[in-house]
Amino acid sequence: MKIHSPADLTAYNTFGVQARAPMLVGIDSEEDFILWRKSYPDALLLIIGGGSNLLFTHDTDRIVILNRIEGIEIWEDEDQAVVTCGAGVVWHDLVMFAVEKGWGGIENLALIPGCTGAGPMQNIGAYGVELKDVFEHLEAIDINTLEKRTFTREECRFGYRESIFKREYKDRFMITRVALRLRKKDYHLKTSYGAIEEEMKRSALPPTIAGVAQAVMNIRREKLPDPAILGNAGSFFKNPSISASQYEHLKMKYPELPAYPSAEGDAMVKVPAGWLIEKCGLKGFRKGTCGVHEKQALVLVNYGGAEGKEIYELSEMVLQKVSQTFDIALEREVNIL
Ligand code: EPU
Repeated sequence: MKIHSPADLTAYNTFGVQARAPMLVGIDSEEDFILWRKSYPDALLLIIGGGSNLLFTHDTDRIVILNRIEGIEIWEDEDQAVVTCGAGVVWHDLVMFAVEKGWGGIENLALIPGCTGAGPMQNIGAYGVELKDVFEHLEAIDINTLEKRTFTREECRFGYRESIFKREYKDRFMITRVALRLRKKDYHLKTSYGAIEEEMKRSALPPTIAGVAQAVMNIRREKLPDPAILGNAGSFFKNPSISASQYEHLKMKYPELPAYPSAEGDAMVKVPAGWLIEKCGLKGFRKGTCGVHEKQALVLVNYGGAEGKEIYELSEMVLQKVSQTFDIALEREVNIL
């Protein structure tokens, strides 16, 4: 266990914005956390992993818990492997571990920043796959009663970038381990997301689990900024679902507006927020030290030294512009603190 008091959080959020916390506690095991918590039973906590989906707009008075629980355990038979992974394992390392073993299911999720424990929080997804597709169960600790609890997939109530941990159980549990069920045999590669097939052809990648992972990595490296170089938190907004009738109406003015099926049923369609933001003329827009990424309008970036408040104000401006232009209310994907 490592404790810093007080703590500068600049290195613990991928936006790279400055914020302070009264204390930062690095946790290596469940026991570590339980022991520490008994000394601070009433403290308000903020549990983070890679800090890749949050924006600090001011200093926090909560104690920050850095979840660094490591370890990968495997149960396998001929057909499948259940991989139980510590919440602090870097997500991409887990993906590469599975890819090297030749186990299918998470290769489309290569290079998503952050730690494994954060995956179920927002049901991470990319290129036609979501975490829920391979999710088996997770283990968590109730941060108040310190009881351990297992959550099945149904209990997590996954949705598009959604889970129970962002809603009813917000700030109530610390996820400690995540178990995923991966396929060893009879696995169907998921290449239907257009850009993957194109990239596999362009780079002559083999139709294998490793080939798909490589295609995803190539696409992401081309389009999405590396947080180690340019501060960002991936997609800042969710792709909104709008009614089919609003879509038809917009399509008269913007015939090229893309649309995808919505999980909310046939009466709704999902439209790409990146497209809407770009159409508002904001792709590459820069305000002071922050801006809208020049290659992916859904990503806001810190060019260096931006304050969280400035990035938040920029996001507010994007929301307003999209609302005025299309009458669509975007929703932030990133947690604002
Ligand atoms: N588009 C534009 N302009 C832009 C960005 C996108 O016109 O600046 C259009 C594209 O041409 C395409 C459509 O929007 O027609 C979708 O673009 P893309 O495939 O880049 O994906 P996205 O919808 O912008 C989502 C996820 C990403 C994930 C990609 C790939 C959300 C909020 N974002 O982005 O996830 O990597 O699909 O599956 O659902 C993240 O959550 O942090 C994230 C990066």
